[in-house]
Amino acid sequence: MYKSYLAASEFIDMTKIPGPKAASIVKEFKKIAYDSTFTYPLVIKTGSGCVIEDVDGNKFLDFTSNIGSCPLGYSHPEILGIIKDYCSTKNGVHKMAGQDFYCEEHIKIGKRLLSISKKNSKVFFINSGAEAVENAIKLAYKKIGPLPGVSCMGDFHGRTLGALSFTMSKKVQKTNFPELPVKRIKFCTADSDPQINQLESLLREHKVAFILTETIQGEGGLNVASKLFIQNIRKLADKFKVPLIFDEVQSGMGRTGKWWAYEHYGVEPDIMSVAKALQVGATVYDKEYEPDESGVLSSTWGGGDRIDMAVGTKIIEIIVNDGLLSNSQRIGNMLLKNFVDIIGIKGLIDVRGIGLMIGLEFDTKTVRDYVVNRLFKKGLLVLPAGIKSIRIMPPLIINEEEAAKGISLICDTINRYHK
Ligand SMILES: Cc1ncc(COP(=O)(O)O)c(C=O)c1O
Repeated sequence: MYKSYLAASEFIDMTKIPGPKAASIVKEFKKIAYDSTFTYPLVIKTGSGCVIEDVDGNKFLDFTSNIGSCPLGYSHPEILGIIKDYCSTKNGVHKMAGQDFYCEEHIKIGKRLLSISKKNSKVFFINSGAEAVENAIKLAYKKIGPLPGVSCMGDFHGRTLGALSFTMSKKVQKTNFPELPVKRIKFCTADSDPQINQLESLLREHKVAFILTETIQGEGGLNVASKLFIQNIRKLADKFKVPLIFDEVQSGMGRTGKWWAYEHYGVEPDIMSVAKALQVGATVYDKEYEPDESGVLSSTWGGGDRIDMAVGTKIIEIIVNDGLLSNSQRIGNMLLKNFVDIIGIKGLIDVRGIGLMIGLEFDTKTVRDYVVNRLFKKGLLVLPAGIKSIRIMPPLIINEEEAAKGISLICDTINRYHK
């Protein structure tokens, strides 16, 4: 049985959530903008460390890192220092056409990123994760030709139409949107899966331009690929001379206790997509995929946000200097162990993950939604993933005390669910 780290008195509602300001902003927002993937009425004002404060002064322990995009939490002094540096006329061009003009920030972030990436790589900077994927597949098409691409069931690669073609995590993301030619294979989570060799027969029968996959599916339900499955894909990509693209937009930048989730599999990609925690989108590619003429890829703002590039560079530096890869492993193991201990309670059917990328799967969407919303009211932010799972991704700076508080809130909430 898990140990509760909370006094009973702590397990009461803070204030009415959402508070009046938050409720009013959400109402106004819905009138003027598309109500997209908002899970609960959180209206962010500020934050410090692993805590986010809303516009009514309510404080939330953040187990989402803004979907992995804020690995150092909030108000990190070194990051605030960088932002301050850009608040002067010395750095008056804070944003520029980054594929049309050069700046020093390109060099700094590029060198840092390549220092932690596969050897013999170069990088193309862009705005978002979807565009990092979009440009990864363009590099592959450019070299191999306009053939179908392979991706996995349950994968999420973004929502621009190219990237979306290879996304298959939720129906709502796909219905009525046309697709580029795609061949899908099962995303195998067990070495014993009978479909683990499905790719081999597919590659024997069809010529393809690339194989694109996540190694840990985030949006699709926090599914961890089997080691054999990923190693097999690498071998087949080599055998059939097909570029292998790993999408590290969510799982990369130290989230799993290594820089890239693929490192847990002992293989490397030919091309990878990075974004979120890096603050800018980036397609990192083996030099053999460099287009032989300029102008093949570009974008006005891509590689143009100098503040984001400076912050991304500093994030890599801090992850190294503050030992945040090992913190991710250590706190990740603590979270995982405590959640594994309560499998079987009130519909919690599985717990899985690596480092600070952890999923809790329930037997129904109803329990999952109850837990997510109840935790929000208790002051802990977690996100849904897939159909009936919860995604837990705290900032990499999280300490044991914060982890223990989150564990107690999650375990107590699950325990108190009445079917
Ligand atoms: C694995 C993966 N790829 C691509 C994307 C798309 O990134 P963005 O939302 O920045 O376009 C996401 C976003 O969640 C993701 O998780």
